Amino acid sequence: MPDLSIEIAGVRLANPLVLASGIWGTTPELLERAARAGAGAVTAKTCTPGPRRGHRNPTALDWGHGLLNAMGLPNPGAEEEAGMLAEARRRISPLGVALIASIAADTVEGFAEAASIVSRARPELIEVNISCPNVAAGHGEMFAASPDAAAEATRAVKRATSIPCLVKLSPQVADIAAVARAVAAAGADGITAVNTLPGMLVDAETGLPILANRTGGISGPALKPVALRCVYEVCAAVGIPVIGTGGVGTGVDALEMISVGATAVGVGTAVAAGGEGIFARILDEMGGWMIARGFGSLAAIRGRAHRAPPVGRESNLPPVPGWRPA
Ligand code: SIN
Repeated sequence: MPDLSIEIAGVRLANPLVLASGIWGTTPELLERAARAGAGAVTAKTCTPGPRRGHRNPTALDWGHGLLNAMGLPNPGAEEEAGMLAEARRRISPLGVALIASIAADTVEGFAEAASIVSRARPELIEVNISCPNVAAGHGEMFAASPDAAAEATRAVKRATSIPCLVKLSPQVADIAAVARAVAAAGADGITAVNTLPGMLVDAETGLPILANRTGGISGPALKPVALRCVYEVCAAVGIPVIGTGGVGTGVDALEMISVGATAVGVGTAVAAGGEGIFARILDEMGGWMIARGFGSLAAIRGRAHRAPPVGRESNLPPVPGWRPA
């Protein structure tokens, strides 16, 4: 079996698969289940400084090409979350699996508060969710919408905790590379790219939006090409490591994410659809694919899209300037 281990923001993972936030991240038992099933790291559901009820049902729908969800960040608040994270850490640390807390807030101060509270549980990493498409931050738009706001939230978290932080970006911005550069300059230790992409489904009979929130975030297979493009642009722009997330459900999907420059790979909707067996399947497929092609490590695959011409086509495109393995 090829070496699938990676390092992200100083944390060593046995393999690059990360349970994405929002799927199974609400209890220690579910996080442990993903860890036992083979994830290299597991991310908890996002918490905010205080409790949030979330949106009314219906909040999620499988539309055949992935999920559309607008949960509205339901969570018990950072204090209770810290207790949940401490218990999750107690269960998964002996398995050699890293725990990632996830935080969001309406204000810069709220990001600092949530970061400081969840840090008590000593997760290995904190994901800073500045990109939920289903709630408006205090200033009316997500922090990920502007490089300055994204950098401010990042700086606040970095001041509040010594735990390395990964900033989660949105695909719904004009220039994701600019946002990535801003959070990297503000001290982010890594980036998660990307959150869901806003979308909508309508019931033809009633003519009404299906989700109670009307719009929601698209995840799963429909998001994959968007996510690959975003990760490609982010990796060309910054040297910090990236968790590539969006539509990964097979070993080949995961290797494509690594080819565009990702260090690790988030798996979310595929876990919801296929259960925990998905981690072992993806890892087996990655190993088999790499053996068949003579790749001994992920380092040899990482970033190939930045060097190679498009498959089947002559290309005179120069390599993307500035890209280097994280
Ligand atoms: C939600 O809770 O509405 C989704 C969370 C996210 O996409 O960040």
